[in-house]
Amino acid sequence: MERLQKILAQAGVASRRKCEEMILAGKVEVNGELVTTLGTKVDPATDIIKVSGRLIRGENKIYIMFNKPKGVITSASDPKGRKVVTDYLKGINERVYPVGRLDYDTEGLLLLTNDGEFANLLTHPKHHVPKTYHATVKGVPHGTALDKLKTGIKLEDGMTAPAEVEYKDIDEANKEAVISITIHEGRNRQVRRMFEAISHPVMRLKRISFGDILLQNLKRGSYRHLTKDEINHLQQMAKSGLLKAKTPRKDT
Ligand code: URA
Repeated sequence: MERLQKILAQAGVASRRKCEEMILAGKVEVNGELVTTLGTKVDPATDIIKVSGRLIRGENKIYIMFNKPKGVITSASDPKGRKVVTDYLKGINERVYPVGRLDYDTEGLLLLTNDGEFANLLTHPKHHVPKTYHATVKGVPHGTALDKLKTGIKLEDGMTAPAEVEYKDIDEANKEAVISITIHEGRNRQVRRMFEAISHPVMRLKRISFGDILLQNLKRGSYRHLTKDEINHLQQMAKSGLLKAKTPRKDT
């Protein structure tokens, strides 16, 4: 958090003293509210600041969570004309980009933003942001097979980091199972390759959380804006590495 007059001066509005006068004169708005107290602190990353109605900073950053359907490309355009995630973002005029990717056949939670710093923070491998998936797999894996995923398994691009794995549902009659798996990396087709490595190929894959953001009951093909608290929380936790130890509280 920074003092409002400092942010205004840094944005080139006027000198710090002049900015203080503007605040006292009732010319400055933060998130739609007039601010006339000197020393008010604001969050330059997320607060919307206006002087005499003119936007100084904030408004153009947007953060969205989307429930991606299967059969949609995680991209802003596709040369082959297939459906892309931005086709679903009616009413969003800003150019937003996905935070990481989901395969064409994977469904579930995808974050999108036009804030590159935010996207980098959440996708940087050193921050270990956990992502939880429900994988419907062929056959019912033994506990010993799942233990391999828990400790780390060898893939062609190296060992995976330990994952949290648990049974969600076992269907002996149809010889399939739903397994919840939380990974802290973001390699290409990682979950599918991990299950292939234990000879239980994935038939359906759905991401149900990203960090501590949960998909919950967001309808397939719909989106919503993240709240300010959700954005701040994700940023703080990624920065402090705390997400590493955290798994979601509940799922869809
Ligand atoms: N792992 C996969 O295999 N696919 C995804 O889309 C995401 C993670």
